[in-house]
Amino acid sequence: MARLMAAVLISGRGTNLQALIDDCARSDAPAGIALVLSNVAGAAGLARAEAAGIATVTVDHKGFPSREAFEDAISERLDAAGAEIVCLAGFMRLLTASFVERWRDRLINIHPSLLPSYRGLDTHARAIADGVRFAGCTVHFVRAEMDAGPIIVQAAVPVLADDTADSLAARVLRAEHRCYPLALRLIAAGRVRVDGARVIVEGAGAPGAILLNPDDGRG
Ligand code: GRF
Repeated sequence: MARLMAAVLISGRGTNLQALIDDCARSDAPAGIALVLSNVAGAAGLARAEAAGIATVTVDHKGFPSREAFEDAISERLDAAGAEIVCLAGFMRLLTASFVERWRDRLINIHPSLLPSYRGLDTHARAIADGVRFAGCTVHFVRAEMDAGPIIVQAAVPVLADDTADSLAARVLRAEHRCYPLALRLIAAGRVRVDGARVIVEGAGAPGAILLNPDDGRG
């Protein structure tokens, strides 16, 4: 079966991009990466793509008079690369409703919180300040509203008593690197169906029924 070809949009270091690159390089991968596009020249993620032999392009938003003109330039690149799905991976530009609609249910994002909690920035510091016991990450289809849209995959990690925003971010990031490839695989394998505000994943397994933090020692 033909692989589903993705474009990955980045602005920075690209560790989630790397997780996608590594997974797509496996012989059983149902998806491939056609293009890595950055809005920031010299973003570290571009070198990751180049090292993997993946086509890259920089479309610097600062060179365009409007958000629409910037997005038209992106769309042109995505079309030329034959992208069938777009993965946002630390892409730090808000997208207009018209771009989001054009890619409806073919545009996904990873966010470092258990949505719908902690949309926006500084998710880890805010979670620690609130004293929540679990943090995590979410891969979701993008809608016009920021950090909203049908949830495909989530992972939860414990928040520890001595966590800093950095230590929690590192724990969540390790979970991100498992979630994003999983979500792309599920979509590429045709197992993901959007049903209103929810996603149904065909044949998905479930984890244990209860995650307790702090653990009560009863195993
Ligand atoms: C990740 O934490 C992701 O959840 C958020 O931006 C960060 C990107 O990190 N959307 P990286 O560039 O993938 O390392």
